[in-house]
Amino acid sequence: MNTTAEPDALAQGLAELHAESFHTPWSAVAFADLLGQAGVVLEGDNDGLILIRVVADEAEILTLAVRPSARRQGLGGRLVEAASRRAAELGANRMFLEVAEDNAPARALYGSLAFKTAGRRPRYYPRADGPAVDALILVRNFA
Ligand SMILES: CC(C)(COP(=O)(O)OP(=O)(O)OC[C@H]1O[C@@H](n2cnc3c(N)ncnc32)[C@H](O)[C@@H]1OP(=O)(O)O)[C@@H](O)C(=O)NCCC(=O)NCCS
Repeated sequence: MNTTAEPDALAQGLAELHAESFHTPWSAVAFADLLGQAGVVLEGDNDGLILIRVVADEAEILTLAVRPSARRQGLGGRLVEAASRRAAELGANRMFLEVAEDNAPARALYGSLAFKTAGRRPRYYPRADGPAVDALILVRNFA
């Protein structure tokens, strides 16, 4: 993915990267739409992406994905920290996200970055092969 590419090519690259990490990938159209929205910030490179939305003093991680071949090399953590810096510059003083309770790698990553559980949405993520899984709401205050 080339983050300086034309919008359509950028959205296509983001969709392809996202599809390597999620069973229900977002389309290029969905990415293009998000990139045009107020407060939405992208950080990424050819191996990973993070998309956040900053509203007033809060930032939300909309999605985070690292290509399977590039995992466990620190990229996920660097993307969260880069997005946090951008969010703080835009006035946010905390960041939150939703993560599936059974997503052990993501929970370990966020835990290592001092995100704390602040809430739960029961049966939030449908699963084709079993019961729906709760979403945990994680929060990290800046400073
Ligand atoms: C979650 C994800 C973004 C992590 O990216 P990553 O680049 O591998 O993460 P990092 O290398 O920065 O990992 C940092 C720390 O997180 C923890 N961690 C990350 N992946 C882990 C795993 N599979 N098992 C256990 N701990 C893990 C570790 O503490 C790790 O530090 P270490 O490698 O020194 O032990 C990646 O696995 C991914 O894209 N998953 C699919 C999409 C997804 O679930 N996104 C998040 C949705 S909320």
